[in-house]
Amino acid sequence: MPEYAFIGRSNVGKSSLINMLVNQHGLAKTSQKPGKTQLINHFLINEKWYIVDLPGYGYAKVSKSSREAWEKFIRNYITKRESLQCIFVLIDSRLEPQKIDIEFCCWLGEIQVPFALVFTKADKQSAPKTDANVALFKKQLSGWFEEIPPYFVTSAEKSQGKEALLQFIEEVNQD
Ligand code: GTP
Ligand code: MG
Repeated sequence: MPEYAFIGRSNVGKSSLINMLVNQHGLAKTSQKPGKTQLINHFLINEKWYIVDLPGYGYAKVSKSSREAWEKFIRNYITKRESLQCIFVLIDSRLEPQKIDIEFCCWLGEIQVPFALVFTKADKQSAPKTDANVALFKKQLSGWFEEIPPYFVTSAEKSQGKEALLQFIEEVNQD
């Protein structure tokens, strides 16, 4: 069955976004502390497709060896998983573009895995501030990509962006 994975820096809101999408607060475990999700978790939706919650990257407090283990585990999943339709790369909408996120997008581009951007936690600041950070991120990506991937602005707190994301997934499922 087709699957859609959610990835991004630790604490960016992957698990919260998944819960928002499926209307089930405790489905994916969330935490104020980074590093909560440690495994690849699959959630079957409508008996038709899977949402995949992945552990985050870029958490400063992990050792070099666990960082390397993460890389191997995740890179393996992303490069080998045939049922993977699209990866949502979550970006904290409060921050200016972070090198680690740009590099991750570039790697997906290199290996030609389709991805979309999801700017999270939009409730934490004003809309113009979010728009400014989104514009900066797109500008940085435009140095690497001919076409900017689809993107969404979301808030798990306010259920913002839910319909747009679900509709996008529905459309990809039908292709
Ligand atoms: P790891 O599994 O550790 O990589 O983290 P994660 O990316 O899954 O983040 P998680 O969903 O656990 O959320 C981290 C923290 O951010 C929690 O305290 C959430 O309540 C908070 N959070 C997530 N999304 C939002 C949002 O849209 N708005 C606000 N205000 N807080 C959010
Ligand atoms: Mg998580």
